[in-house]
Amino acid sequence: MPVDLRAKLAHVELPNPILTASGCAGAGRELARFIDVARLGAVVTKSVMLAPRAGRPTPRMVETPSGMLNSIGLQGPGIDAFLQRDLPWLLGRGARAVVSIAGGSVGEYAELASRLSDAPGVTAIEVNISCPNVEDRGTVFACDPTAAAAAIEAVRQRARYDIPVFAKLSPDVTDIVTIARSCVAAGADGLSLINTLLGMAIDTETLRPVLAGLTGGLSGPAIRPIAVRCIWQVKQALPDVPIIGMGGVRSGRDALELILAGASMVSVGTEIFHDPSACDRILRELGDELARAGLDRLTDAVGLAHQRINNPPRYRDVATTI
Ligand SMILES: Cc1cc2nc3c(=O)[nH]c(=O)nc-3n(C[C@H](O)[C@H](O)[C@H](O)COP(=O)(O)O)c2cc1C
Repeated sequence: MPVDLRAKLAHVELPNPILTASGCAGAGRELARFIDVARLGAVVTKSVMLAPRAGRPTPRMVETPSGMLNSIGLQGPGIDAFLQRDLPWLLGRGARAVVSIAGGSVGEYAELASRLSDAPGVTAIEVNISCPNVEDRGTVFACDPTAAAAAIEAVRQRARYDIPVFAKLSPDVTDIVTIARSCVAAGADGLSLINTLLGMAIDTETLRPVLAGLTGGLSGPAIRPIAVRCIWQVKQALPDVPIIGMGGVRSGRDALELILAGASMVSVGTEIFHDPSACDRILRELGDELARAGLDRLTDAVGLAHQRINNPPRYRDVATTI
């Protein structure tokens, strides 16, 4: 019997739990030469803003040990071009579209949500709140429970009732559970964990910072233990809230680790730059891993590691696995 890989994005059922991570596959076109985008659980688009943006100056990417720093700065064509060009392309391919949005003010988030609600075919909205609030001295929404809640509440109020809203949180906070609770209280249907961590690299030849924007977001395998910890903590505090997990997933086994911590879906980001067909491979590997663990359904694996600490394996269970 093949493993049942169906996943739930809040009330929306997906054929499988593997998604692209925002910013790592544009709006899907870049991947279409390598994989059938309709086979993914969904394509999570690069964060869309109201106006077109050129992003930050180059260089804006650098490799680090087991990771990557980027300071792309939300380059993109803006919501009008997205709705005219990118969304119809994705829907034409039969793909499910989770649209990531980013704004510089609560009003911008609200406006983006209502523009998306007027468009057909949006499977869910992922709200990237790792952006500075221009109306509040540049405080990053995701780092302040009140600001995070204000952005999510505005999106939830303006988004069509049947479109799930996921808040994407930053790990650069003292207590991610506080921010998670605040977003859920403001109406988030689910949470995406985690965005990149703020990092920096200095070139010891030129004696200058490598990135033109000085700091960048750290992603890739280096951050996976942090993603696992954040997902674990949030699942423990809010067991019924669906989580899209991401951070350094390179294989089906990595995806399973995030699922065991509490993620019901997994986004793949940096690995796509190494292997553009990674999502297909990881989905296959995840099915094999679940079968190997004796699990018939993906949903049985979600958060399973929590049960294992409450019920430590008996001697006989341990003995049979040695
Ligand atoms: C080049 C690049 C661009 C990204 N752009 C976005 C973005 O536009 N919006 C967003 O919410 N996250 C963005 N992210 C963060 C990823 O979606 C993801 O949360 C993070 O990279 C961790 O996953 P990974 O280690 O699998 O890449 C970006 C990451 C990278 C590497």
